[in-house]
Amino acid sequence: MTPLIAVNELSIGWGDDVLLEHASFAVERGDIFVIVGGSGCGKSTLLRTLIGLDVPMSGSVKIDGTSGARLGTGRPEFGVMFQSGALLGSMTVGENLALQLTEWSDLTPDAVSAIVRAKLRLVGLQGAEDKMPNELSGGMKKRVAIARAMVLEPTLLFLDEPSAGLDPVSSFELDALILSLNQGLGLTVVMVSHELESIFAIGSRCIMLDRDSKRIIASGEPQALRTSSGDPRVSAFFNRHAAPVPPPVPSASGPSAPRSSSPRQSAPEVMP
Ligand SMILES: Nc1ncnc2c1ncn2[C@@H]1O[C@H](COP(=O)(O)OP(=O)(O)O)[C@@H](O)[C@H]1O
Ligand SMILES: [Mg+2]
Repeated sequence: MTPLIAVNELSIGWGDDVLLEHASFAVERGDIFVIVGGSGCGKSTLLRTLIGLDVPMSGSVKIDGTSGARLGTGRPEFGVMFQSGALLGSMTVGENLALQLTEWSDLTPDAVSAIVRAKLRLVGLQGAEDKMPNELSGGMKKRVAIARAMVLEPTLLFLDEPSAGLDPVSSFELDALILSLNQGLGLTVVMVSHELESIFAIGSRCIMLDRDSKRIIASGEPQALRTSSGDPRVSAFFNRHAAPVPPPVPSASGPSAPRSSSPRQSAPEVMP
Protein backbone atom coordinates (compact mmCIF):
# COMPACT_ATOMS: atom_id res chain seq x y z
CA MET A 1 0.00 0.00 0.00
CA THR A 2 1.32 3.46 -0.79
CA PRO A 3 2.04 5.63 2.23
CA LEU A 4 -0.47 8.34 3.07
CA ILE A 5 2.21 10.99 2.54
CA ALA A 6 5.22 10.36 0.30
CA VAL A 7 7.92 13.02 0.27
CA ASN A 8 10.58 12.62 -2.37
CA GLU A 9 13.82 14.57 -2.76
CA LEU A 10 12.23 17.65 -1.22
CA SER A 11 14.20 20.87 -0.91
CA ILE A 12 12.71 23.85 0.90
CA GLY A 13 13.88 27.32 1.86
CA TRP A 14 13.43 31.03 1.45
CA GLY A 15 15.30 32.89 -1.31
CA ASP A 16 18.91 31.76 -1.13
CA ASP A 17 18.42 30.32 2.34
CA VAL A 18 18.04 26.57 1.87
CA LEU A 19 16.61 24.90 4.96
CA LEU A 20 16.37 21.29 3.87
CA GLU A 21 17.78 19.49 0.84
CA HIS A 22 16.82 16.22 -0.83
CA ALA A 23 14.61 15.04 1.99
CA SER A 24 12.65 11.86 1.45
CA PHE A 25 10.34 10.26 3.96
CA ALA A 26 6.92 8.65 4.24
CA VAL A 27 4.03 8.95 6.66
CA GLU A 28 1.99 5.78 6.98
CA ARG A 29 -1.72 5.66 7.71
CA GLY A 30 -2.33 5.62 11.44
CA ASP A 31 1.01 7.21 12.30
CA ILE A 32 1.51 9.95 14.82
CA PHE A 33 4.46 11.33 12.94
CA VAL A 34 6.57 13.90 14.77
CA ILE A 35 8.91 16.46 13.19
CA VAL A 36 11.61 17.69 15.55
CA GLY A 37 14.68 19.90 15.27
CA GLY A 38 16.21 23.09 16.60
CA SER A 39 14.47 26.43 16.49
CA GLY A 40 14.46 27.91 12.99
CA CYS A 41 15.51 24.69 11.25
CA GLY A 42 12.42 24.68 9.06
CA LYS A 43 9.85 22.51 10.85
CA SER A 44 6.96 24.89 10.26
CA THR A 45 8.10 25.52 6.70
CA LEU A 46 8.15 21.77 6.08
CA LEU A 47 4.65 21.42 7.54
CA ARG A 48 3.38 24.26 5.36
CA THR A 49 5.01 22.62 2.33
CA LEU A 50 3.34 19.29 3.13
CA ILE A 51 -0.08 20.94 3.11
CA GLY A 52 0.69 22.94 -0.02
CA LEU A 53 0.83 26.42 1.50
CA ASP A 54 4.52 26.83 0.67
CA VAL A 55 5.98 25.81 -2.67
CA PRO A 56 9.07 23.59 -2.51
CA MET A 57 12.32 24.55 -4.26
CA SER A 58 12.35 21.07 -5.75
CA GLY A 59 11.05 17.60 -5.11
CA SER A 60 7.55 16.36 -4.52
CA VAL A 61 4.94 15.79 -1.84
CA LYS A 62 2.19 13.29 -2.56
CA ILE A 63 -0.77 12.88 -0.27
CA ASP A 64 -2.73 9.70 -0.91
CA GLY A 65 -0.93 9.30 -4.22
CA THR A 66 -1.69 12.74 -5.59
CA SER A 67 0.59 15.73 -5.64
CA GLY A 68 -0.31 19.38 -5.56
CA ALA A 69 -2.68 19.25 -2.59
CA ARG A 70 -3.41 22.90 -2.02
CA LEU A 71 -4.92 24.44 1.02
CA GLY A 72 -7.05 27.40 -0.01
CA THR A 73 -7.95 26.16 -3.49
CA GLY A 74 -10.67 23.72 -2.62
CA ARG A 75 -12.26 21.83 0.22
CA PRO A 76 -9.34 20.87 2.45
CA GLU A 77 -8.63 17.15 2.62
CA PHE A 78 -7.04 17.48 6.00
CA GLY A 79 -7.28 19.41 9.24
CA VAL A 80 -4.63 21.89 10.29
CA MET A 81 -3.76 23.64 13.53
CA PHE A 82 -1.05 26.23 13.09
CA GLN A 83 1.50 27.22 15.69
CA SER A 84 -0.57 30.17 16.87
CA GLY A 85 -3.73 28.03 16.83
CA ALA A 86 -5.64 31.28 16.72
CA LEU A 87 -9.40 31.32 17.00
CA LEU A 88 -11.27 34.33 15.70
CA GLY A 89 -11.71 36.37 18.85
CA SER A 90 -14.85 38.19 17.75
CA MET A 91 -16.76 34.96 17.14
CA THR A 92 -18.12 32.41 19.57
CA VAL A 93 -16.57 28.97 19.77
CA GLY A 94 -19.53 27.58 17.83
CA GLU A 95 -19.17 30.20 15.09
CA ASN A 96 -15.45 29.44 14.82
CA LEU A 97 -16.27 25.77 14.26
CA ALA A 98 -19.12 26.47 11.85
CA LEU A 99 -17.04 28.63 9.47
CA GLN A 100 -15.59 25.89 7.28
CA LEU A 101 -18.78 23.85 7.40
CA THR A 102 -20.85 26.66 5.98
CA GLU A 103 -18.15 27.44 3.42
CA TRP A 104 -17.76 23.90 2.10
CA SER A 105 -21.17 22.31 2.53
CA ASP A 106 -24.85 22.96 1.89
CA LEU A 107 -25.83 21.77 5.33
CA THR A 108 -28.82 23.39 7.03
CA PRO A 109 -28.10 25.56 10.09
CA ASP A 110 -29.51 22.79 12.30
CA ALA A 111 -27.16 20.23 10.78
CA VAL A 112 -24.20 22.60 11.19
CA SER A 113 -25.12 23.09 14.86
CA ALA A 114 -25.36 19.35 15.37
CA ILE A 115 -21.88 18.80 13.90
CA VAL A 116 -20.44 21.67 15.95
CA ARG A 117 -21.89 20.12 19.13
CA ALA A 118 -20.54 16.70 18.19
CA LYS A 119 -17.04 18.02 17.53
CA LEU A 120 -16.98 19.91 20.82
CA ARG A 121 -18.05 16.70 22.57
CA LEU A 122 -15.23 14.90 20.78
CA VAL A 123 -12.67 17.19 22.41
CA GLY A 124 -14.36 17.18 25.83
CA LEU A 125 -15.89 20.66 25.57
CA GLN A 126 -19.58 19.91 25.26
CA GLY A 127 -21.73 22.97 25.82
CA ALA A 128 -18.97 25.47 25.06
CA GLU A 129 -20.41 26.71 21.76
CA ASP A 130 -21.60 30.07 23.11
CA LYS A 131 -18.37 30.92 24.88
CA MET A 132 -16.02 33.57 23.49
CA PRO A 133 -12.39 32.51 22.92
CA ASN A 134 -11.12 34.92 25.60
CA GLU A 135 -13.21 33.08 28.19
CA LEU A 136 -11.22 29.89 27.60
CA SER A 137 -7.99 28.63 29.13
CA GLY A 138 -4.99 27.97 26.88
CA GLY A 139 -5.67 24.24 26.89
CA MET A 140 -9.35 24.75 26.03
CA LYS A 141 -8.43 27.03 23.13
CA LYS A 142 -6.18 24.29 21.72
CA ARG A 143 -9.02 21.79 22.06
CA VAL A 144 -11.38 24.13 20.23
CA ALA A 145 -8.76 24.60 17.51
CA ILE A 146 -8.50 20.82 17.15
CA ALA A 147 -12.31 20.51 17.06
CA ARG A 148 -12.34 23.18 14.35
CA ALA A 149 -9.70 21.26 12.39
CA MET A 150 -11.94 18.17 12.61
CA VAL A 151 -15.26 19.59 11.37
CA LEU A 152 -14.82 18.38 7.79
CA GLU A 153 -14.04 14.84 8.99
CA PRO A 154 -10.42 14.71 7.84
CA THR A 155 -8.45 11.48 8.05
CA LEU A 156 -5.23 13.46 8.35
CA LEU A 157 -4.44 16.18 10.86
CA PHE A 158 -1.44 18.55 10.89
CA LEU A 159 -0.49 20.18 14.19
CA ASP A 160 2.31 22.72 14.64
CA GLU A 161 3.57 22.66 18.23
CA PRO A 162 0.15 21.89 19.72
CA SER A 163 1.30 22.01 23.33
CA ALA A 164 3.40 25.18 23.03
CA GLY A 165 2.61 27.51 25.90
CA LEU A 166 0.54 24.98 27.85
CA ASP A 167 1.13 23.95 31.44
CA PRO A 168 2.17 20.29 31.91
CA VAL A 169 -1.32 19.10 32.87
CA SER A 170 -3.03 20.72 29.86
CA SER A 171 -0.22 19.44 27.70
CA PHE A 172 -0.74 15.91 29.01
CA GLU A 173 -4.49 16.18 28.38
CA LEU A 174 -3.91 17.41 24.84
CA ASP A 175 -1.64 14.41 24.19
CA ALA A 176 -4.39 12.12 25.47
CA LEU A 177 -6.87 13.80 23.14
CA ILE A 178 -4.56 13.46 20.11
CA LEU A 179 -3.94 9.80 20.94
CA SER A 180 -7.66 9.11 21.36
CA LEU A 181 -8.43 10.68 17.96
CA ASN A 182 -5.63 8.60 16.45
CA GLN A 183 -6.73 5.34 18.04
CA GLY A 184 -10.49 5.89 18.08
CA LEU A 185 -10.93 7.40 14.62
CA GLY A 186 -7.84 6.08 12.88
CA LEU A 187 -6.72 9.65 12.34
CA THR A 188 -3.19 10.07 10.98
CA VAL A 189 -1.38 12.91 12.71
CA VAL A 190 1.68 14.86 11.55
CA MET A 191 2.92 17.19 14.23
CA VAL A 192 5.82 19.45 15.04
CA SER A 193 6.87 19.15 18.66
CA HIS A 194 9.88 19.55 20.89
CA GLU A 195 8.17 18.24 24.03
CA LEU A 196 9.97 15.01 24.84
CA GLU A 197 7.21 13.73 27.11
CA SER A 198 4.73 14.17 24.32
CA ILE A 199 6.97 12.65 21.66
CA PHE A 200 7.64 9.53 23.73
CA ALA A 201 4.04 9.26 24.93
CA ILE A 202 2.25 9.44 21.60
CA GLY A 203 4.74 9.60 18.70
CA SER A 204 4.95 6.49 16.54
CA ARG A 205 7.60 7.78 14.15
CA CYS A 206 9.83 10.78 14.14
CA ILE A 207 12.22 12.69 11.89
CA MET A 208 14.81 15.15 13.09
CA LEU A 209 15.85 18.07 10.89
CA ASP A 210 19.22 19.76 11.13
CA ARG A 211 19.78 23.33 10.05
CA ASP A 212 23.55 23.09 9.48
CA SER A 213 23.64 20.01 7.29
CA LYS A 214 20.18 20.75 5.78
CA ARG A 215 19.37 17.09 6.17
CA ILE A 216 17.09 14.73 8.03
CA ILE A 217 19.62 13.42 10.53
CA ALA A 218 17.38 10.84 12.20
CA SER A 219 14.30 8.86 11.34
CA GLY A 220 12.54 6.14 13.30
CA GLU A 221 10.64 5.34 16.46
CA PRO A 222 11.30 7.91 19.20
CA GLN A 223 12.43 5.30 21.74
CA ALA A 224 14.83 3.75 19.25
CA LEU A 225 16.29 7.16 18.44
CA ARG A 226 16.77 7.75 22.13
CA THR A 227 18.59 4.52 22.84
CA SER A 228 20.30 3.56 19.60
CA SER A 229 21.27 6.64 17.65
CA GLY A 230 24.99 6.91 17.09
CA ASP A 231 24.64 10.58 16.19
CA PRO A 232 25.48 12.75 19.20
CA ARG A 233 23.09 15.50 18.06
CA VAL A 234 20.22 13.04 17.96
CA SER A 235 21.19 11.32 21.17
CA ALA A 236 21.51 14.68 22.95
CA PHE A 237 18.05 15.77 21.85
CA PHE A 238 16.27 12.56 22.85
CA ASN A 239 18.12 12.19 26.14
CA ARG A 240 17.81 15.73 27.45
CA HIS A 241 15.99 14.61 30.59
CA ALA A 242 18.36 11.82 31.37
CA ALA A 243 21.20 14.21 32.19
CA PRO A 244 21.68 14.44 35.96
CA VAL A 245 20.69 17.78 37.41
CA PRO A 246 23.46 19.31 39.51
CA PRO A 247 22.35 20.57 42.92
CA PRO A 248 21.95 24.33 43.18
CA VAL A 249 25.06 26.12 44.33
CA PRO A 250 24.35 27.86 47.65
CA SER A 251 25.03 31.55 47.46
CA ALA A 252 25.44 33.96 50.33
CA SER A 253 24.49 36.93 48.18
CA GLY A 254 21.00 35.80 47.21
CA PRO A 255 19.54 33.44 44.65
CA SER A 256 22.02 31.98 42.18
CA ALA A 257 21.77 32.85 38.52
CA PRO A 258 19.53 30.50 36.56
CA ARG A 259 21.36 27.56 35.06
CA SER A 260 21.23 27.62 31.32
CA SER A 261 22.04 24.05 30.32
CA SER A 262 18.50 22.68 30.26
CA PRO A 263 15.29 24.66 30.19
CA ARG A 264 13.35 21.88 31.93
CA GLN A 265 15.57 20.78 34.79
CA SER A 266 12.82 20.38 37.31
CA ALA A 267 10.68 18.14 35.13
CA PRO A 268 10.62 14.47 36.07
CA GLU A 269 12.48 11.99 33.93
CA VAL A 270 10.51 10.60 31.06
CA MET A 271 9.55 7.02 31.64
CA PRO A 272 9.59 4.74 28.61
N1 LIG B 1 7.43 33.47 5.18
C1 LIG B 1 8.77 33.46 5.33
N2 LIG B 1 9.56 34.24 4.58
C2 LIG B 1 10.90 34.22 4.70
N3 LIG B 1 11.56 33.44 5.57
C3 LIG B 1 10.84 32.64 6.35
C4 LIG B 1 9.42 32.59 6.29
N4 LIG B 1 8.97 31.69 7.20
C5 LIG B 1 10.07 31.22 7.80
N5 LIG B 1 11.18 31.77 7.30
C6 LIG B 1 12.55 31.48 7.73
O1 LIG B 1 12.82 30.10 7.58
C7 LIG B 1 13.55 29.62 8.68
C8 LIG B 1 12.83 28.46 9.30
O2 LIG B 1 11.62 28.90 9.86
P1 LIG B 1 10.55 27.90 10.45
O3 LIG B 1 10.16 26.92 9.41
O4 LIG B 1 9.47 28.74 11.04
O5 LIG B 1 11.41 27.17 11.59
P2 LIG B 1 10.95 26.28 12.84
O6 LIG B 1 9.47 26.04 12.73
O7 LIG B 1 11.77 25.04 12.75
O8 LIG B 1 11.32 27.06 14.08
C9 LIG B 1 13.77 30.78 9.63
O9 LIG B 1 15.06 31.29 9.41
C10 LIG B 1 12.73 31.78 9.21
O10 LIG B 1 13.16 33.08 9.43
MG1 LIG C 1 7.87 26.53 13.88
